[in-house]
Amino acid sequence: RPRVLSGIQPTAGSFHLGNYLGAVRQWVALQESHDAFYMVVDLHAITIPQDPAELRANTRLAAAQLLAAGLDPERCTLFVQSHVPEHAQLAWVMNCLTGFGEAGRMTQFKDKSLKQGTDRTTVGLFTYPVLQVADILLYQADQVPVGEDQRQHVELTRDLAERFNGRFGRTFTVPSAYILKETARIYDLQDPTIKMSKSASTPKGLINLLDEPRATAKKIKSAVTDTDTVIRYDAEGKPGVSNLLGIYSTLTGSTVQELERSYEGKGYGALKTDLADAVVAFVTPFRERTQQYLDDPETLDSILAKGAEKARAVAAETLAQAYDKVGFLPAK
Ligand code: TYM
Repeated sequence: RPRVLSGIQPTAGSFHLGNYLGAVRQWVALQESHDAFYMVVDLHAITIPQDPAELRANTRLAAAQLLAAGLDPERCTLFVQSHVPEHAQLAWVMNCLTGFGEAGRMTQFKDKSLKQGTDRTTVGLFTYPVLQVADILLYQADQVPVGEDQRQHVELTRDLAERFNGRFGRTFTVPSAYILKETARIYDLQDPTIKMSKSASTPKGLINLLDEPRATAKKIKSAVTDTDTVIRYDAEGKPGVSNLLGIYSTLTGSTVQELERSYEGKGYGALKTDLADAVVAFVTPFRERTQQYLDDPETLDSILAKGAEKARAVAAETLAQAYDKVGFLPAK
């Protein structure tokens, strides 16, 4: 079985619809066909300031949501990044292979650091993509299911895997990004030219999965479209409508063409009402299942402990090989 690995940050509140459609939904599907490793990336989370108690709660919340979304600990390995110390250990080696300028060209870093200003930007944020490289290479992942905004980090992973292999001999699998065209980028409902995100979206443009379903339905019904009336997929000319069609198609399994046909002659209102129903049908049981996992933290923690054990077995082996190749003296 080919191997996949991916990660998600333990954000406050809940995941948003972009996280789910762009990544987590694919994780659930891939656990059937792949040897799958998925993690909550708490080491990445502290690249910006975090309240300790909240970070811990958000880490459990993230794991609960992943299980509620359909990850099955019998079918995949679900763990918390900080439970596997090899991530930080391999990241150091990778830091020493990464050019300063190369790291500086990462667009997510540039965006985030620009927003924060250099005084508040940590070295951790600068080297964040390199930690992600270590995450992926430790598991010899063949594919990395992510949204479009992570493509550059996977490219860096390929470059560093090849650089390491070239310098020290074949050690790492060179992975590729697994990005589905339809859900590569889910857009803000109020400004369909920017991606849906916790940091950039307005509250009305952002669908948090754990929000009150009625509030979610309302946001979808007031999504920005255009002054035309035709329901047609045209990402350039009709970004708002196209975003809604993409979301709808993914959630229901109908193709965009089928949707265009069935909404011929109908207005945007009909499309929005039906999409709101589809989203509510997804989030309502999702919220309940998340709450069930949160109500039983012992079970949740034991799932994560087992996951960490399975992950460590793989990560430790890869790290040992990498340390050996680099020339570190083995500890006797
Ligand atoms: P994070 O936590 O920001 O996002 C988790 C996943 O959600 C996807 N995503 C989107 N997809 C489509 N449309 C959107 N609007 C949207 N917003 C977010 C992201 O692309 C991502 O797949 N650096 C990563 C976490 C990470 C990781 C890794 C990923 C750490 N180590 C190793 C893969 C492999 C991040 O911050 O994702």
